[in-house]
Amino acid sequence: MSTSARRRPRYVVHDGFRMPMGFPVHGFASGLAYRPLATDVFVASYPKCGTTWMQYIVYLLMNGARPLPPGRKLEEFFPHLEEVGTEGVTALAGRRLIKTHLPFEMTPFHGEARYVYVARNPFDCAVSFYHHTRGFVHHYDFADGTFDDFFECFILGEVDFGDYFDHLASWYAQRRAPNVLFVTYERMQEDIEGVIAEVAEFVGEPASSAARDPSMVAAIREEVSFGRMSRDQRRWSSARPAGMPEFVRKGIVGDWRAAFSPQQARRLRDEFVRRTGGTGPYRLWPEILADVDAYAVGAG
Ligand code: A3P
Repeated sequence: MSTSARRRPRYVVHDGFRMPMGFPVHGFASGLAYRPLATDVFVASYPKCGTTWMQYIVYLLMNGARPLPPGRKLEEFFPHLEEVGTEGVTALAGRRLIKTHLPFEMTPFHGEARYVYVARNPFDCAVSFYHHTRGFVHHYDFADGTFDDFFECFILGEVDFGDYFDHLASWYAQRRAPNVLFVTYERMQEDIEGVIAEVAEFVGEPASSAARDPSMVAAIREEVSFGRMSRDQRRWSSARPAGMPEFVRKGIVGDWRAAFSPQQARRLRDEFVRRTGGTGPYRLWPEILADVDAYAVGAG
């Protein structure tokens, strides 16, 4: 099928930047103009790379491991900058916790604010992003889109929040900055306690004290487990139509195999090489790339 005949998600395009429909343009413009405070904590990511998981870790670390109050949503305490704009962030009480999906160059930067960036391999990200895009019917009008349709948009960078590779490269280049902590979703899967400790140390008080208390660490670990976060998903997202996957969906590494054809795996791998020269962020996921190569053997 030619690319033009494919079904494509719908977006709002503002200054050449794709956003989900329903994101007010004034929120986006005002969010970009936000002037951070030295005390701000940002969780930055490309969509579907473990943002919510990391946000909840930061929230719990900053709140003595106490879960969200019943009936409240994480976004009330940890808003999405380019959705709510400056006003939505400055209205927060206490130390500001801020989510963003902006690439580094567009993210409001303060040399002392803290930026936790979460990266995920592009294969699992693409599959998760596909399910997200078909599930949020009002944002994308893509309920009957297929993975094949979405894949063509993803590989061209024609999805909301822009091109995966540009985004990753922009933050990867900052990974050694003293106020940037670069973490991968896959590492969170492997060593959540290590990540909790690292984030706590990076964010500073009161998170660092919380991380020195073994009972708090155990409580946080339990609270951010896939099983616990799968419950009461209204905390993270608006409701989906019946039959659509949940927001906290599978939560595994390697789900790409369920959706990718060998040809698609080869194409995305080749694009990853082309965009990175086979270095830098390309080296983040050697096991996954070995699996992809094995899966794609013989694919044209
Ligand atoms: P899948 O769709 O692959 O399951 P984001 O918050 O950036 O939108 O990322 C969503 C992805 O993170 C989804 O991936 C979701 O299931 C996964 N996720 C959320 N909470 C998780 C948890 N506690 N453990 C593992 N994965 C989690």
